Amino acid sequence: MSKSALITGITGQDGSYLAEFLLAKKYQVHGLVRRSSSGNTTRIDHLCKDGTHDGRLDLHHGDVTDGQALANLILQIQPDEIYNLAAQSHVRVSFDQPAYTLQVVGAGALNVLEAARQLQETKPLRLFQASSSEMYGDVRETPQRETTPFCPQSPYACAKVYAHHQAINYRQSFGMFVVNGIMFNHESERRGETFVTRKITRAAGRIKLGLQKKLYLGNLDAKRDWGYAQDYVQAMWLALQHSVPDDYVIATEKTHSVRQFLAAVFRRLDLSWQDHVEIDQRLFRPSEVHHLLGDSTKIRQTLGWQPKTNFENLAAIMTDHDLELAGREVYGQRFDLEGA
Ligand code: NAP
Ligand code: GDD
Repeated sequence: MSKSALITGITGQDGSYLAEFLLAKKYQVHGLVRRSSSGNTTRIDHLCKDGTHDGRLDLHHGDVTDGQALANLILQIQPDEIYNLAAQSHVRVSFDQPAYTLQVVGAGALNVLEAARQLQETKPLRLFQASSSEMYGDVRETPQRETTPFCPQSPYACAKVYAHHQAINYRQSFGMFVVNGIMFNHESERRGETFVTRKITRAAGRIKLGLQKKLYLGNLDAKRDWGYAQDYVQAMWLALQHSVPDDYVIATEKTHSVRQFLAAVFRRLDLSWQDHVEIDQRLFRPSEVHHLLGDSTKIRQTLGWQPKTNFENLAAIMTDHDLELAGREVYGQRFDLEGA
């Protein structure tokens, strides 16, 4: 019989790729979707069309901060696997909304763990918790591995540290199959437009086609270990298929600065970024994470995972996608003018 999985955060970047990945593996996929007055399902709309995937995708309204409703849902659908990807995932925003971020990222994860514990009384299940390299913060060693101490530098990272330790606590206290995937930054053409890579590729495409002149950025010196989201959802799944639950760093083992990403994108479009980028002090963070570089030896050796997309290809995929998107904007404008 095919397996079933619940994805919290299915409407997000990773959730949408994970849903595709699991549907291709013939899972019954359940997704938790927040009620929104405007559309928040654009990343998964293509999966929801009639006749696709033999009705193996079910969406449920819910919110990880509503623990009782979440427990009811999990007890009702009885998933074999749960992927807790729901988060207020923007680090800068977490400084403006620290309590809200804690509710979603920290208490939300606890709600998922607690609901899973209740289900486990009658049925075994496996749970993936989306942990973050942001937890390393003011890094204590480089590269960062599973044993590197955490030194969080933002409300988001503090909340992720809480969730990470609760996941381990539930694994140890209740014998649950809970995995923390300590994921380093991963991006894609579905990345939210306020994260720096997508902000850059969206702006570069629009600049190339004359739709925009300037791009305002903050700290260009920060370095990140950037991978491709599709590679990372495969790692999430692999981590739940292993015989024992454990924690894994998921990373490319290469680091680049924001400036290097900027240069790669503008170079691809035959533009000079220096002609278009302006530094806006308001985009600097109260506290910065300067340098992230992961050591993913454990997941590579234990689960055979390795990323397929390198930094240059990632920048190219995102740039080409967003140039096309900008092209559609141009076409749309002409169409509107002609039709007016
Ligand atoms: P994302 O694009 O921001 O997606 C977050 C998802 O969580 C969205 O579906 C969002 O719903 C949902 N969500 C937010 N608050 C919720 C709530 N209260 N209840 C239920 N759902 C809620 O994030 P992502 O990049 O896919 O990341 C997935 C997970 O991995 C997150 O936990 C993130 O913190 C973690 N992570 C990401 C990275 C990365 O580089 N991408 C690295 C390390 C860890 P809406 O669509 O309605 O907003
Ligand atoms: N967002 C943003 N906007 N970041 C900027 C900008 C800007 O205009 N200018 C410079 N940056 C710098 C930030 O200061 C940061 O050092 C770096 O670009 C990356 O910022 P983000 O793309 O917002 O990602 P993040 O590293 O803070 O957080 C992402 O990765 C974490 C894993 O390390 C998010 O996906 C988190 O949810 C995730 O946990």
